[in-house]
Amino acid sequence: MIKVGLLGCGTVGGGVVQLLRANASYIAARVGAPIDIARVLVRDPSKVRVPELDRGRITTDASAVLDDPTIDVVVEVMGGVDPAREYLGAAIAAGKQIVTANKMLLALHGADLLERARKHGVDLAFEGAVGGGIPVIRVLRDSLASDTIVSLCGIINGTSNYVLTRMRQDGLSFADAVKEAQDKGYAEADPTLDVGGGDAAHKLVVLSMLAFGARLDGARVPTEGIDAVEPIDHAFAERFGFVVKQLAIAKLARDGSALELRVHPALVAKDTALANTSGVLNAVAIEGRALGPCLLSGRGAGDMPTAVSVVADLVDVASAKKSGISGNMTRAIRLGERKLAPMADVETRYYVRFSVFDRPGVLAKITGALGERGVSIEQLVQQGRGTEDVPVDVVMLTHEAKEAAIQAALEVIGKSDYVAHAPRMIRVH
Ligand SMILES: NC(=O)c1ccc[n+]([C@@H]2O[C@H](COP(=O)([O-])OP(=O)(O)OC[C@H]3O[C@@H](n4cnc5c(N)ncnc54)[C@H](OP(=O)(O)O)[C@@H]3O)[C@@H](O)[C@H]2O)c1
Repeated sequence: MIKVGLLGCGTVGGGVVQLLRANASYIAARVGAPIDIARVLVRDPSKVRVPELDRGRITTDASAVLDDPTIDVVVEVMGGVDPAREYLGAAIAAGKQIVTANKMLLALHGADLLERARKHGVDLAFEGAVGGGIPVIRVLRDSLASDTIVSLCGIINGTSNYVLTRMRQDGLSFADAVKEAQDKGYAEADPTLDVGGGDAAHKLVVLSMLAFGARLDGARVPTEGIDAVEPIDHAFAERFGFVVKQLAIAKLARDGSALELRVHPALVAKDTALANTSGVLNAVAIEGRALGPCLLSGRGAGDMPTAVSVVADLVDVASAKKSGISGNMTRAIRLGERKLAPMADVETRYYVRFSVFDRPGVLAKITGALGERGVSIEQLVQQGRGTEDVPVDVVMLTHEAKEAAIQAALEVIGKSDYVAHAPRMIRVH
């Protein structure tokens, strides 16, 4: 029998208990031994839990899991950095196999935890940490191990994608779309980590560890949320043949040395698979040097999709334990230092919306400020007519330019007296 200590029994932990029960005989045959959830650590023992949970296994004492030598595998689905980090450190030191879905912990301390796991000859599996039920970790770690990944681009936060989809398709304001996502249980009571881009940045760091072998503990990913995207931006994007998506992008810089990481809203061409990944769905587009493009998409969160990934990891690490080959999975992940390219060096096209007073020579001043810094205009649209005192929206799509150049031009334009407020810039993917 493989004995499991479950740290946390909320949304994902409840799904894990249910899935293990529903597929018990199949999983036992696959592992070569039945899986027993021996202990379940929670904060509040009186809370109602999934009916499949044997309440006699509940504890509020972490040492009942960590110091029990008969527990083979620790499954961490409690979330947060502390005390999860301490608990996993102790479990690794005690030689237990580890499964976690904790992207925040992995983004901040993943390389360190992997190093410890390697030292102690145990596996550390984390398929549930990114993309819920989408098997993206395995694909990067195992299936594409023979290739060089040149880029990956993902819609990896379902809440942001839901909010942007509702704003675009049904004209909801940002605030109304967030409220609806909360009412439907897609967004947390405090949605900052989701709509602010922090959650996607954590996941991007985890993906980049595998895709590029990059040691990125605590890396500062340039991150922008979706809160500044207005309904009018969706309408203009549509006019130019794009939709607005919140993207997490990682790519090798042109010279192949540095790694470019960023999370921000972006205009994505309407006829692409990423543009058509709507609602709470997630998608990750991977580009391999030999493979070319590859797209994975599906349900990126929720109890059962995430439990599918967590239990699949459990099957793997339990089988490894049973066969006496623990640690192979961790040994497969090789991490090294990788320089991060500065955001100022990123080169892309830009969508820029100006709110300008309709005075003679204004457009020439704007294009002049851009042109002086090497930013040239590809398309320009003016919506209606303004006056000297009532501003009008003017939207431009630029050719490729460096981030530093567009930022410098927008700073100058934003301070001028012919614009009503700071220009709104969205990068074009
Ligand atoms: N929800 C998703 O769709 C999803 C998808 C992918 C990854 N994840 C990741 O999976 C993890 C769990 O997420 P979740 O949505 O299942 O969270 P959740 O519903 O809030 O559940 C957390 C569980 O951990 C327990 N817990 C938290 N802190 C604890 C502590 N200090 N000591 C003991 N028990 C503690 C809680 O106990 P009580 O029940 O007593 O409060 C609860 O059972 C997170 O790392 C999250 O990022 C979640």
